[in-house]
Amino acid sequence: MTADSRLIVPLDLPTVDEARDMVERLGDAVSFYKIGLELLATGGMGLAAELKAQGKSVFLDWKLHDIGATVERSARVLAQAGCDLLTVHAEPQVMRAAVLARGGSDLKILAVTVLTSLTDADLNEMGYAFGARDLVERRIRQALDCGVDGVVSSPHEAALAREIAGPDFLVVTPGVRPFWSAKNDQARAATPEAALRAGASHLVCGRPITAANDPREAALKVIAEMAGV
Ligand code: C5P
Repeated sequence: MTADSRLIVPLDLPTVDEARDMVERLGDAVSFYKIGLELLATGGMGLAAELKAQGKSVFLDWKLHDIGATVERSARVLAQAGCDLLTVHAEPQVMRAAVLARGGSDLKILAVTVLTSLTDADLNEMGYAFGARDLVERRIRQALDCGVDGVVSSPHEAALAREIAGPDFLVVTPGVRPFWSAKNDQARAATPEAALRAGASHLVCGRPITAANDPREAALKVIAEMAGV
């Protein structure tokens, strides 16, 4: 069995050396990696370049949120570095700047609609008039208007994103847990099969794979579960 390009493994490890070691252990079972902010501070871009040189795809989960000019300059550098996916917050100014910067490059922009850690009460406290689900829906529509390539969405909102945005939109879902693994802190998890059936185009599945005794075997089990969908 070979890698499924719809499976993204987050390298949520404390150091680049440990991340590199995990990539080596996973070998040809995984072709797509997510690099988050923790590794950015300790050599994440160097690791991204190494992964690209090995023929892997790279998702930079940096959730950019700044004035348009800064987002545009940052996204342009990342597009030139050959990265494949970049997250930005789903504010129209931010999304438009990132889309402008990626131009005709291979970099795809993903909008983070509403952080899944935010409840309706949190949004109210922040001054929003919408609850989480309404704000997610509004921001999916705005992402489409801005020309963004997709959204990050919990498996429970994947169907909504797919319904609003149609078949070509990327819907990347974290919170993926095979039935045989611990839920960890993912309160609203779904199995790989359920997430794909709900409309996800890509799954982010971390600790069930990276914390397993045999990460490669765990990755292959997840891929086997995805195979039918
Ligand atoms: O180990 P686990 O599968 O829970 O990792 C999920 C990854 O997806 C982590 O890198 C986490 O930061 C990220 N993520 C998430 N929920 C979101 C957005 C991102 O779990 N709403």
